[in-house]
Amino acid sequence: MASKFQPVTVQAPKCLNDFALQPNSRFKLESILDQTLQFPANGVCCILLYGLYGTGKTTIARLLPGLIETSKVDANALNINPADIVDTQDPHELYQACAQGQNGAHLIQGIQNMTNLIAFNQSGLHYVILDEVDNLTDLAQASFKAILNHHHVVFIMTTNNLNKIDLGIQNRSVLVDMNTPPADLWRPILRKVYRTAGLTPPPDAALDQVVVAGRGSARTIFTDVVMDANQNLKQGVKSGRDNVVRLRS
Ligand SMILES: Nc1ncnc2c1ncn2[C@@H]1O[C@H](COP(=O)(O)OP(=O)(O)OP(=O)(O)O)[C@@H](O)[C@H]1O
Ligand SMILES: [Mg+2]
Repeated sequence: MASKFQPVTVQAPKCLNDFALQPNSRFKLESILDQTLQFPANGVCCILLYGLYGTGKTTIARLLPGLIETSKVDANALNINPADIVDTQDPHELYQACAQGQNGAHLIQGIQNMTNLIAFNQSGLHYVILDEVDNLTDLAQASFKAILNHHHVVFIMTTNNLNKIDLGIQNRSVLVDMNTPPADLWRPILRKVYRTAGLTPPPDAALDQVVVAGRGSARTIFTDVVMDANQNLKQGVKSGRDNVVRLRS
C-alpha cells in the first residue's frame, strides 16, 4: 500500500510576479504600479482584462485594488519592483459579477450611490470591479459609460469577449490581454509548485507541453501540474518526469 502523502496545493497569487503574463500586459500593469503611467488620469479610469476562459482575469481583478492602493500610499512600495508589490492596505472595493441579460439599471445606480460618497481609502479612490462586463446589455453599457467621468473611481473589468464591449468604454481603459503568454513565462511559476512539494521540477519541455495543452488556461494548467506533483509524491518519485500526465489529453 502506498504511504500516506500530504497533497500539494497551489498558493493563492499575491503579486504580479505570481502570474504568467504577456510582456505587453505586464508592462502596462507594472507601469500603473510604479507610477510611470498616471492612473486614473487623462480620462482613463478603467482596466479592462480580456481573454480566454481561466486565464486569471477574475483573480487579478480582485487583486488589483489592493496593489494599486498600496502603490499609491505605502512609501515602501516605491522602493521595490512593482511586480513584487503585495497588498498592505486591504482597501474597500465593490465587487459586482454581471449577470447575463440584466438591464444594469440597479447596478449602475448602486455604483453611482457609492461613488457620490467620499472614499474611505487613503488614496481617496473608490475601486469598482465588474466581472464579465460583456453581460451588460448595450443600453446598460451606454449608461455605464456616462458614470465613467469621475476622477476618483477606478473601474476594473473582465471579459471573455472584447468585441462585445462598448468602444467608448474601451477608449477609457487600459486594455490588458490575458491570453496565452509564451510557455517559458509559465516555467518559474510551475516549478514553484513542485519545489513547494519538495520535488525536483520536470524538464522545461514537459512543463511547456502542459501550458500548450492547457491553452494558457491557469485553471487547466494548475490542475494538471498539481495532479502530477501529487502523483509523484504518492509514488515516492522525487524528480519530475519527462511526461506530465494531463487530465484533458
Ligand atoms: N497566477 C496564478 N496563480 C495561481 N492560481 C491562479 C493564477 N491565475 C489563475 N489562477 C487560478 O486559476 C483559476 C482560474 O482563474 P480565474 O477564475 O481568475 O480565470 P478567469 O480568466 O476569470 O476565467 P473565466 O474567463 O472563466 O472567468 C482560479 O482558480 C485561480 O485561482
Ligand atoms: Mg472570471
